[in-house]
Amino acid sequence: MSKKEFKEIVFPPGFLWGAATSAHQVEGNNTNNHWWVWEQEGGHIRDGSVSGRACDHYNLYQQDFELVRELGHNVYRFSIEWSRIEPKEGKWSEKEIEHYRKVVEALLERKITPMVTLHHFTNPIWMQDKGGWLNPKSVDLFERYTRTVVESLGDLITFYNTINEPMMVAVMGYLLGLHPPCRTDLAEFFTAGKHLLMAHGKCYSAIHETVRDRGFKIKPQVGIVKQIPYFAPFNPHSEEDVKQAKLMDDIVNRWYLEGIQTGTVAPPFGSGEKLDYLENSWDFIGVNWYTRILANSTIKLEAEQKTLPQTVPEGAEITDMGWEVYPEGFYHSLMSVKKYKKPVYVTENGIATLNDEQRCRYIIRHLYQLHRAIHDGLDVRGYMYWSLMDNFEWAEGFAKRFGIIEVNYNTLERKPRPSAYLYRDIIKRNAVTEQQLQKYSVSP
Ligand code: NOJ
Repeated sequence: MSKKEFKEIVFPPGFLWGAATSAHQVEGNNTNNHWWVWEQEGGHIRDGSVSGRACDHYNLYQQDFELVRELGHNVYRFSIEWSRIEPKEGKWSEKEIEHYRKVVEALLERKITPMVTLHHFTNPIWMQDKGGWLNPKSVDLFERYTRTVVESLGDLITFYNTINEPMMVAVMGYLLGLHPPCRTDLAEFFTAGKHLLMAHGKCYSAIHETVRDRGFKIKPQVGIVKQIPYFAPFNPHSEEDVKQAKLMDDIVNRWYLEGIQTGTVAPPFGSGEKLDYLENSWDFIGVNWYTRILANSTIKLEAEQKTLPQTVPEGAEITDMGWEVYPEGFYHSLMSVKKYKKPVYVTENGIATLNDEQRCRYIIRHLYQLHRAIHDGLDVRGYMYWSLMDNFEWAEGFAKRFGIIEVNYNTLERKPRPSAYLYRDIIKRNAVTEQQLQKYSVSP
């Protein structure tokens, strides 16, 4: 490929550039949620760790935001921990609300836009004890918590993510049993999925109503954060693989997105009931993207097989998570939401690797695909790398390192990796240069 064929790719003016984290993964000592309890049982986390003090971001957030500022980010996506705000049912912690107020203020002082996630995988222990997402009351409980957050912080926040990766919560927690409460029950999977959809809808209206009722002079932008893996058949000539890929896409991707668009809780999760509050309950779509999943119908699902029937092609580049690197799939997943005619923010995209050069290549190649989607008419307004810093990767523990900032877990020292500086340069120019594209061999 001759150098001349590469052209700088420029992003739209006002593009939001930043990185994302979630409370349980970075804050430390989230002792009041169901993940903490599960970790303490022992034997669940692959590398034997527990979240513990994690990155101690709860105490070190000021210093972390200094780094964020130095790295040129203009947005920071993070989550508010429900179990801190409501440690006991109906009891609100003023101290923790005040903490998050300071966190948001610390961002605003540095001209970094906060993007706040209200639910990122963790439930308060008391909520889990009531049946978690299987309990129909979970919907109203989540709505009440949302109202409390918005009453207290709504004068400062424009961007809200309601629920992070709701279908992953349902799949990992109730179908594959890989995350707490470790259930492998199809009926429960459908029930949890349905409540997670309804909770999103209620949360959406709760935010808008609360901001209006309180007279806050802010126009909130509220969206779902949906992981949209790109499902494709392992063997495109196999009817069964094609069918299976479509089924996975329908269940994991389409059902939830269509539910929000139409307000319908369609089968197999619901019975087709129409909910007014759910219809069109999004101002933007947050897309998390990591990998392509190839449906392989020759892999038979055993009752206890805790995985999806998928295959990574031989010779494919993989990440430390074992996920295939397939940037083109990012383009396809992005384009699949174009029909909803909403602004899109990439709320997560990143790689676990100990090889930072691989991370640099991953970023450039994915930004190339993102730009392709913009070029093809998708209204993308921001990109948030996952993650700002190494952190507690759920059932994988601390061994998987996603950060553009390296964390030394003994000393808590932060050290930006070369990828953080590459990203800083991209942000500064609002563009990826011809040389960068050339270096990481992105085909034009
Ligand atoms: C998506 C989740 O939102 C985040 O918490 C997780 O760390 C990343 N995927 C990587 O697995």
